Amino acid sequence: MNRKVRKAVFPAAGMGTRFLPATKAQPKETLPLVDKPLIQYGVEEALASGVDNIIVVTGRGKAAIEDHFDRNGELEHELLARGKSEELALVKRISDLVRMSYIRQGEPLGLGHAVGVTKELVGEEPFAVILADDVISAEVPALKQLLDIYDHFGAAVIAVMEVPEDKISSYGVVDATPVEFNGTKDRLFRVNDLVEKPPQGEAPSNLAIIGRYVFPYELFDCIDGLQPGAGGEYQLTDAIRSLMRRGPVYAYRFEGKRYDCGDKLGFLQATVEFALEREDLGGPFREYLKQLKL
Ligand code: UTP
Repeated sequence: MNRKVRKAVFPAAGMGTRFLPATKAQPKETLPLVDKPLIQYGVEEALASGVDNIIVVTGRGKAAIEDHFDRNGELEHELLARGKSEELALVKRISDLVRMSYIRQGEPLGLGHAVGVTKELVGEEPFAVILADDVISAEVPALKQLLDIYDHFGAAVIAVMEVPEDKISSYGVVDATPVEFNGTKDRLFRVNDLVEKPPQGEAPSNLAIIGRYVFPYELFDCIDGLQPGAGGEYQLTDAIRSLMRRGPVYAYRFEGKRYDCGDKLGFLQATVEFALEREDLGGPFREYLKQLKL
C-alpha cells in the first residue's frame, strides 16, 4: 500500500522580482489577497486535502512568514480585552491547525534546490510541493485531486492546465499521453518529457505545469544528482525528468481556476474575483465596480 502523504513543502525563498518594489522588504508570500496572505491560501488547501505538516523554505527577509503562522500573545491579549472574539478566533485558528517547520535555503539557487533542502525534514516518505503564488480556487482542493491520483497509482503527479499558444513559452510544458481515469481521457496523462519555457512554436503540448506536485521521496536522489541549468539554477523540471527514468510520472489537468499571484496582473485579477465572491464584501464591491463604467 502507498504511504500516506503527510507533509507539504512550500518553497518561499525566491526573490519575487516580478513584484518589486513591494517585495523589497516584504515576502511575496505574505502579500494579502483581499485580507489573507497568499501563503495561507496554500496552507488551507493543504489542510483541506488532509496534509497538516507544513515545511516552508525561507530565505533572507522572510521572517514575516514565520510570524504570521506563530501565535501573537500581545495581539490576542489585546483582542480579548476589547471583546473582539471573531477577530481573535481568526488570528488563532490557523496556528492551531497546522504544524509548521522552517528551513533556510541559504542562496536562491532555484526551485529544485529549494525543494532539495527539505530532504531531512521530509524523510523517507512521499510529499507534496505547493507554490504559494499559484492560488487555485476549486470545489475539490487542487492538492486533493492530485493526492487521489497518487493514492491510485502510487507515482509522482504534477498539476497541469491548458494555456493558449501565445503564452505557453512562459511555462514548463509536458509532452504527455492521455490515460483513461474515472471514465475520462482528457484529465490524466502519462508524462513522456518536460520542457522548461519552450521557444514560441516549439511547445510539445498546451499543458503547462502549475505549482502543485506530489512526489515519492526518491525525488531527493534526483535533486542530489542535478547540474545547474539556465541561469545557474537547479531546476525542479530537470529532477522530474530524472525521476521519470525510475518510474512513471503523471500529469493531472485539475478542475478549478488558477491565478498567477506572483505576477501583478494575475494578482489583481485574483483580488477582484476573490473580493466579489466574499459574502461581506461582494455586494458593495460589485456596486463600486459597476459605477466605474469602464
Ligand atoms: P518564481 O519563479 O516565482 O521565482 O519561483 P521568485 O523569485 O519567487 O519570483 P520572480 O520570478 O523573481 O518574480 C517559484 C517559487 O519557488 C520559490 C519561490 O519563492 C516561489 O514560491 N523559489 C524559487 C525558492 O524558494 N527558491 C529559489 O531559489 C527559487
